[in-house]
Amino acid sequence: MSLVEAVASTFVKLFKEQPLLVRSPGRVNLIGEHTDYNMGYVLPAALDKAIYFAIAPAPGGECRVHALDVNQEHRFSLDALHKAQNGWPNYVMGVVDQLMKAGYPVGGFHCVFGGDIPIGAGLSSSAALEAGLAFALNEIFPLRIDRLTLVKLAQKAENEFVGVQCGIMDQFINIFGAEGKALLIDCRSLEYEEHPFDPGIAIVLFDTRVSHSLASSEYNRRRMECGEGVAALRRRHPEISSLRDVSMAMLAESKDTLDSRVYRRCKYVVEENERVIKACEALEQKDISAFGRYMFQTHEGLRDEYEVSCPQLDAFVDLVREMPQVYGARMMGGGFGGCTVNLIAREAVEETTAEVTRRYKERFTAGSRTYVTHISRGTAIVPGPRAA
Ligand code: GLA
Repeated sequence: MSLVEAVASTFVKLFKEQPLLVRSPGRVNLIGEHTDYNMGYVLPAALDKAIYFAIAPAPGGECRVHALDVNQEHRFSLDALHKAQNGWPNYVMGVVDQLMKAGYPVGGFHCVFGGDIPIGAGLSSSAALEAGLAFALNEIFPLRIDRLTLVKLAQKAENEFVGVQCGIMDQFINIFGAEGKALLIDCRSLEYEEHPFDPGIAIVLFDTRVSHSLASSEYNRRRMECGEGVAALRRRHPEISSLRDVSMAMLAESKDTLDSRVYRRCKYVVEENERVIKACEALEQKDISAFGRYMFQTHEGLRDEYEVSCPQLDAFVDLVREMPQVYGARMMGGGFGGCTVNLIAREAVEETTAEVTRRYKERFTAGSRTYVTHISRGTAIVPGPRAA
């Protein structure tokens, strides 16, 4: 039975009616890390790993949500949303909370969800849950919310209910992702361009399976450090409002007035924004080697200046650095664990992943995982009995 069939049949068994089915993907980010909340550029793509929702309105204000993968159910009432102890219900209630705060007429609902996005691997399973649910609720009530507003609502759910001050990238790519394409997103204007990605190049993820427990506190701290940088730079350049407005020349001229750690954070972000643009040009020129070199540079910046890497991520990147069939590699996402993203010539994938895994195992006893991914479309309805 496929994942979507398992979710749908569990729903029918529990709630005795036909649900609407929605697929909501995870994401990779090719380049542009920790730039989204600095109003900069990112280049993510939606994945073939996804969460599936089976959902239908229910009478009254009672909600029952069943997480198939962990076999847990959470019940809550729309007029009493309380933060839960364990993780996933907060993503669900956070979305409902945002919809209600924005005045949308959400009612009670029944939902079953499950999927194959590995949790804690940095593939944005949480954004898939938030944005996918926002999309699904928008369909079943129907609330007539446009896609960009759904993205912002889902991001706000994570900021306010879950308490991670994440940027907009993950929710954005979840909703706007396109088959076979990476999206260059300008996180200030929220405009984007689609860039076709060469199907001859495989996007392979090596998962350290280090759970990133530091991730949310250190993530919020990085955000604050960037804010400190902007505040200090504004003394000389009152016109700037984010690191997006800052050039290396401006940074150099204020170096002495900045705390050295804050300076390194800012330097990384300013350089990373420039790299994203150059990497996109390389992609357009089909120069995947140049693209890959930018990825390695990003990794170095994240490791040495932004300081969000860890030994396991560094080891994966170092292992592939000299392999000619690997064009580029870097740690991906917030950091402190999760995956590296690697661009590998498709015909060399099997042999390369076997070699990398073997050599990684010589150093770290904990087992890693490998995902060979495909770029898929963003969140959408899955054809089914209720979709017509
Ligand atoms: C997490 C956040 C994103 C982004 C990345 C780092 O995935 O959710 O908004 O900031 O980290 O690039």
